[in-house]
Amino acid sequence: SKTYYATTPIYYVNSVPHIGHLYTTTLAHTACQWGQLVSGTECRLTGTDEYGSKVMKAAAANKMEPLDYCNKISARFKDMSDKFGIQYYDFIRTTEGRHRDTVQHFWVVQSNGYIYKGSYEGWYCTSDETFLTDSQIEEVVDKHTGKTQLLSRDSGHPVEWTKETNYMFSLSLFIDIIREKVLSDPNFVYPAKAKNTVLRLLDEHTGDLSVSRESSRVPWGIPVPGDPTQTIYVWMDALVNYLTVTGYPDTGYVKMWPADVHFIGVDILKFHAVFWPAFLLAAGLELPKQIVASCHWTIENSKMSKSKGNVVDPFKMADSVTAEGFKYFLLRQGVLEHDCNYREQLVYEVINADIVNILGNCLNRAVAKRLNPQQKYPPFNKEIFNKDENGNCRDGRITDLDFAYIEQVKKLPEMANIHCSKFHFYNAIFEMMSVAREANMMIHRHEAWKLDSKDPADLLLLESIIHSVFEGLRVTGILLQPIIPILADKLLTRLNIPQSERTWAKANESFLELNGLSEPLVGTSLGNDKSLLFNRVKN
Ligand code: MSP
Repeated sequence: SKTYYATTPIYYVNSVPHIGHLYTTTLAHTACQWGQLVSGTECRLTGTDEYGSKVMKAAAANKMEPLDYCNKISARFKDMSDKFGIQYYDFIRTTEGRHRDTVQHFWVVQSNGYIYKGSYEGWYCTSDETFLTDSQIEEVVDKHTGKTQLLSRDSGHPVEWTKETNYMFSLSLFIDIIREKVLSDPNFVYPAKAKNTVLRLLDEHTGDLSVSRESSRVPWGIPVPGDPTQTIYVWMDALVNYLTVTGYPDTGYVKMWPADVHFIGVDILKFHAVFWPAFLLAAGLELPKQIVASCHWTIENSKMSKSKGNVVDPFKMADSVTAEGFKYFLLRQGVLEHDCNYREQLVYEVINADIVNILGNCLNRAVAKRLNPQQKYPPFNKEIFNKDENGNCRDGRITDLDFAYIEQVKKLPEMANIHCSKFHFYNAIFEMMSVAREANMMIHRHEAWKLDSKDPADLLLLESIIHSVFEGLRVTGILLQPIIPILADKLLTRLNIPQSERTWAKANESFLELNGLSEPLVGTSLGNDKSLLFNRVKN
């Protein structure tokens, strides 16, 4: 059977990782973890993109040989994955021999009819490793020097007029096929905003694509097979990483290819949703099933960039609020469809509000000796919830709000799955926190702390309240495993839920007593770890 194959972009090693990289990697990883919880699928990938002038310049600026420099920065990206508990199936580096072999093979396959030698002249942006059309550049006067500069409209990086002999790829032949694919398969480029951007890019497209550079100008690259005077365009080289990992061209590659989803940022949509499908079609290979493009994290509404000195260091934030706390923040606040503005203060606010005040508080109250002197998973006393012919419960204190909460817990897995399948993790988290909030409300509504456990009627209600709160927390804990596994484990361990019961199937089995089934956890003693779920972070 085919493995679920999700990818992240492979990151440039011209600078160290920042939260934008972490965010995309976290999206891909969480999607995989969610898939694993729900249907047992597994596979993910991350890595580094190491060739090209940008990297060569960065190495020179650091007075290092390119490969030594790549080794150093690539290790930093690996460290980031380790620090944030992101398991990579395969950490690919484009400077590896296996990758060079795949890229050169891919080139030869495509060259059969779709690659030709031509002369190319145009605006070239070295930082972006791409040629630009007149409409993609703008004249800008430098505030400090007063000099006029020509910059890429998109990236703001300088461009220069360049003329050289290159190999050209027949991109024009594929534009209509790709447009048809984007229009007929609404999930191919997702979300809709990204799809519309791609349709615009396809309409703006002019001419074929230069897919090699003169080795004298870009020596840090993979040589064109049979022509050492040229190196392969870094974007073709980089995109092929998605195939290298599958073992292509060895026949086993079909176990992974086509990729189920490429996670990217909108900045690299053109490369993934126009060039990559064209390259694949030319090579006679299947297209990825989906391309998911997220918007960016900004700082004070402007782009994060090394030159502006405003990039946020994920390692520093992990030291401040723990890796899980920070990952929670990114998934709770990040939205695919529009840019998210980053404020450090917001990180503290979100974590304190959700994990400490809602989830932690709810757990602490329900396990407190005062409400739960026996320190056990109490029964849900279904009989007091039974309604008479007038619709009243045997215990008149039970209201529609209690029934609504029970329904909310029962529906939580399905709701969360709907959101996670669309990669709207923030909505799934919102649903989980709503359950924890309503669980708190149930304690509050019935003033559970005033109930007298020696009074038989009060005891039945008190047990049912605590049971209901535990059920909400148990289901939430199971569903949080793909998102914040360490905290989820702490929560489930405090409730003493065995590892074997932390499954999707068990999340879908709450309030079993309502169906006349006995609840296996009833009577179980709570776990011993009495530490807080999460310490309040500085505010
Ligand atoms: N090397 C190429 C990708 C090749 S993939 C075949 C590249 N690398 S990059 O280091 O510049 O990373 C770009 C990706 O990092 C974006 O597409 C996005 O996924 C992520 N982000 C970079 N900055 C970001 C933000 N400010 N916010 C969110 N994600 C951003 O392009």
